[in-house]
Amino acid sequence: MSLFSVLDLSRFQFAMTTIFHFFFVPLSIGTGLIVSIMETLYVVKKDEMYKKMARFWGKIFLLSFAVGVPTGIIQEFQFGMNWSDYSRFVGDIFGAPLAVEALVAFFAESTFIGLWMFTWDRFKPWVHALFIWVTTFASAISALWILGANSFMQNPVAFAIDGKMNRLKLVDFFQLITNPQLGFEFSHVLFGAFVTAAFVIVGMSAFRLLKSEKLGAELTLFYRKSLKIAAIVGLLGSLGSIASGDAQTQFLMKQQPMKFAAMEGVDNTLDSSKRDDKAEPWTVIGFWNAKTHKFVGKIEVPYALSILGNHSLTGGKTVGMNELNKQLQREYGNQSKDYYVPVNTVFYSFRVMAGGAGLVFLLAILALYFNRKDGKQLLKYRWFLWILGIATYLPFVINSAGWLITELGRYPWTVYGLFTTADSVSPNATVPGLLFTNGIFFLAFGLLGIAMIVYARRVLHAGPDDVEYETLAKDKKGEA
Ligand code: HEM
Repeated sequence: MSLFSVLDLSRFQFAMTTIFHFFFVPLSIGTGLIVSIMETLYVVKKDEMYKKMARFWGKIFLLSFAVGVPTGIIQEFQFGMNWSDYSRFVGDIFGAPLAVEALVAFFAESTFIGLWMFTWDRFKPWVHALFIWVTTFASAISALWILGANSFMQNPVAFAIDGKMNRLKLVDFFQLITNPQLGFEFSHVLFGAFVTAAFVIVGMSAFRLLKSEKLGAELTLFYRKSLKIAAIVGLLGSLGSIASGDAQTQFLMKQQPMKFAAMEGVDNTLDSSKRDDKAEPWTVIGFWNAKTHKFVGKIEVPYALSILGNHSLTGGKTVGMNELNKQLQREYGNQSKDYYVPVNTVFYSFRVMAGGAGLVFLLAILALYFNRKDGKQLLKYRWFLWILGIATYLPFVINSAGWLITELGRYPWTVYGLFTTADSVSPNATVPGLLFTNGIFFLAFGLLGIAMIVYARRVLHAGPDDVEYETLAKDKKGEA
């Protein structure tokens, strides 16, 4: 008997492909926005430095776009290769949004990115800036359609079941794209994208600023200004992520209570009305014992779950995983099946994501504070520049943690309540075949990832071209 099943290996491959692809999606949407802001500043202030910024960081944008597209195509192959039964089941639903994505968003994105790349100085500055705004908008809209499909998997709407064919039929396209899950997911992913790109630019600028003596005044100012713009986007993005994450949590509590109970480590129902303090405590750390179905070794903060979940100091009730498991067994008529999600992974992924959100918020505030006036503090605190540099990688960890919650937390379903992961897998996929493709994908992604980092470092070390800014004289006084 093989150590892994076809299902395990297919799931691993999908997770690997999605996580890798999703490194580049938020990076390109977010850098698109920041480059658009930089170019708009150039149009408004007519300061050549902003034009150089847009061109320079635009290289990172183009790079992430270039790597994001092929990894997305590999992801789409997954459906046919390993998940053919699932593709048959949802084909009628996913066909429409994915076709619109390919036709509208992808065409607009690719056309305008080309226009933007090759027409510097050939159009009026505001027309050229418009090209990058359209590209950014189109890439966000492209994400909307994909998330529409994902939202359907989390919260199926607008469908009928074709019993004879064992597949779903789309009955209302408008309802599909107004799925409430999509509103939450789309805004949360967009804000996360802003944070991602912001911290890549903050971090890369910080690495350069560590060498400020060698850079000279002009380049130092260039990276300080880049860092400032990106930190503002990072600050607003982290606030947006927290607000949209909270709204998503409220929806989740009703729609997928097992995922919420796992996120919060609630084994048996927690009812504030039955407690002396009339409040729910929040479990900071603990461990789910899958054999005893108990959450053990808990460290709790009194009142905190009432505040986070119920938005009040007291009150609130969280149905525990054990009660939910029994409810789900009754609802789906299968007493022998367990509906527990991978609890420890979901629980700790949530702490990584929410803790990471607090950290990026704090780092953005400190970066702006130390960078104010002449930025001397920022340049002096080399330890802080190192932290910002290392934080380049932080949003990628946060995003991956987010996706682990979303996707693992809907176990055992691919389409929540309708179709299980086990039913979704291709009938003719084999263990040796999957071991082979997993190995190939792992190698390909590893190489692409290394190429991306090497190229980004090269771009950074080469610096923005010809740094003769006409308008630098006034900036040399020091205000950034
Ligand atoms: C920088 C901050 C954050 C980033 C980059 C981030 C990123 C993500 C991503 C990429 C996902 C998967 C896509 C989705 O389902 O929306 C996700 C899921 C989620 N996030 Fe966050 N997140 C952040 C902060 C937060 C915070 C502070 C909260 C709670 C207040 C939160 C709550 C959630 C929830 C509940 C889910 C799962 C939703 C579901 O399964 O339907 N996030 N996050």
